[in-house]
Amino acid sequence: MSIPSSVVEQIKSSADIVEVVGWYLNLKKSGVNYWACCPFHNEKSPSFSVSASKQLYKCFGCGESGNAVGFVMKQDGKTYPEALRFLAEKYRISIPENTVDDPLQLQADAQRESMLILLQYAQKYFSEVLFNDSEGLSIAMPYFKERGFLAATIQEFGLGYAKDEWQGLQNEALQKHYSLELLEKTGLVIKKEQKTYDRFRGRVIFPIYNLSGRVVAFGARALKKDEKPKYLNSPETEVYSKSKVLYGLFQAKNHIRKQNNCYLTEGYTDVISLWQAGIKNAVASAGTSLTEEHVQLIKRFSENVTLLFDGDAAGIRASLRGVDMLLEQGLNVFAVVLPEGEDPDSYIRKHGATAIQDQLKQSVTNFIKFKTNTLLQDSENDPLKRADALKSIIYSISRITDPIKRAVFCKETAASFEIDEPIIVAECNKILLKERKDFVEKQKNTVVESEPNLSSEPSDALDVAQTHTQNNTNDSESLMVQLLLKYGHLIQKDTPIFAYILEECEGVELSNPVFNKIVMLYKSFIENGESPKPSLFLQHEDQAIAKVAATLLFSYNMGEKWKLKNNVTDNPEHDIYLEDFIYKSLVLLKMRYYQKQETDHLQELKQQTDPNEVRFHLMIHQEIKKQIAHLASLYGNVMY
Ligand code: GTP
Ligand code: MN
Repeated sequence: MSIPSSVVEQIKSSADIVEVVGWYLNLKKSGVNYWACCPFHNEKSPSFSVSASKQLYKCFGCGESGNAVGFVMKQDGKTYPEALRFLAEKYRISIPENTVDDPLQLQADAQRESMLILLQYAQKYFSEVLFNDSEGLSIAMPYFKERGFLAATIQEFGLGYAKDEWQGLQNEALQKHYSLELLEKTGLVIKKEQKTYDRFRGRVIFPIYNLSGRVVAFGARALKKDEKPKYLNSPETEVYSKSKVLYGLFQAKNHIRKQNNCYLTEGYTDVISLWQAGIKNAVASAGTSLTEEHVQLIKRFSENVTLLFDGDAAGIRASLRGVDMLLEQGLNVFAVVLPEGEDPDSYIRKHGATAIQDQLKQSVTNFIKFKTNTLLQDSENDPLKRADALKSIIYSISRITDPIKRAVFCKETAASFEIDEPIIVAECNKILLKERKDFVEKQKNTVVESEPNLSSEPSDALDVAQTHTQNNTNDSESLMVQLLLKYGHLIQKDTPIFAYILEECEGVELSNPVFNKIVMLYKSFIENGESPKPSLFLQHEDQAIAKVAATLLFSYNMGEKWKLKNNVTDNPEHDIYLEDFIYKSLVLLKMRYYQKQETDHLQELKQQTDPNEVRFHLMIHQEIKKQIAHLASLYGNVMY
């Protein structure tokens, strides 16, 4: 089982990290690196970077990092040898199979792997029954035919049929030496009062695949009209959690990436019919409402989601609320309404492929517009209902993470409701402010442990950022320099932001020499009447300056954890409260500075013997303490 080290090396050198990560994430090039939203933690702006030259990935938000093999392990939940084998297959590198099994490794994966093998066997069995068994051919095949599913489609989605027998699959599987225990574990067989029987009987089978294309569960539809339940699904197992799997995503993922859009439907058959109609970028949440994990899955391939609603009014109203979660996760949400009572599958069967393609193109609207239209229709001539509708829409707008998009939607909504735009903007801000306050309150009551030191030589820009998060003083300093570089040259209320920052920091010495250099350079640009644009620092001949500038300018989420820890909750990239954010950051910087002064001063005080000197130093000490207290009160938080 173990792979010879020469082959391991070959795999490692063949696997290009940009390509490998690109199979999973929607990477965008910015500067020398590639960026995406991190798949390993929940985030709205990309802080996950991939470096082609170093063949490494790193997330500035959660700190995950590693090479291509490590990425596959983490992403697919594979072990080291599994990841290597996966990559070997992708890059057509053959692995000689002659070495001894590692019993520990085998044991660790045996259970999961056996379950997956059994599930694959079951899928094959159901499919065989559909295509070759007399019951399958006489009952299930005509059903699929009637639904208009072509053979190629049936193959693509691995559809099958479970015979109307108590122990059809069970007997076959036992004969093939699969254990009864495993059959139960995978949910294929149910045990009741010492009797065991197949879960799926007399139903057509829809296998559910995970992202790497392994069967993890089944959905099974009854054939008789009144049979309950209509759809029977596999239970949650060690290999299947319905909140983490999207039906059709395995087949759709590359199409979603290419089209840069994911259609979201409700049923298995919708996904399949859309596929057959040439719309291959559709998925469904199988028998559950959409979860954050589902959204994370979609976001690996596109930031755009189009919801397909059937025209049933009550149904639409019921689903509106759930969409706020999609907006919160940073997705652009669109909506298409199909005629009353039609789901995508039935619409396609009635009107054909071209009709649905046209419908999807023609009637797509952004979600806020769609919600506005829907709720306005409901509240005609009813001012109270109209007010409720407006509130609900403003709430949805406030969920949108991008401030520019928020602003655009505020404007649009103002027009739709014929209300002054500032009122809408103010309402939206009220919601955001309140949440921010609540969040800060909550943080105050939580003790956050300090981050462990990540000690490594700063060998390049990526590492510099890591080193910068080592301690609080350095952190508040780097944030201040980051703000200066990023926003300093912008004008707010007729004053450049740098004036504000530099004034506030007057007299504060930075402990990091490169930061000091940058600030000095910044000041000299201003004095020479040059606009201190980021590019001047990025292209500076002093490599230390250029590198640090690059790190500060391109690491969107730098010190995110630190910010949380210190109640600086706003991300300036995504918040309209930049001024407030800068203010808080500067107060904090000064506070850290004085705290350090205080400690240093105490040291000095201890060494004094002359009473006059002692009194003098005590006075200074009091002064420093007063400053700290003042800053702490400004900051709205007692620090120690
Ligand atoms: P068809 O009637 O075959 O076209 O299916 P549909 O997808 O149109 O069914 P429907 O709109 O009723 O349901 C949408 C989805 O909800 C289905 O694809 C299933 O995933 C799920 N679902 C429907 N009925 C049941 C049920 O009785 N039990 C469970 N667990 N899920 C169901
Ligand atoms: Mn249907």
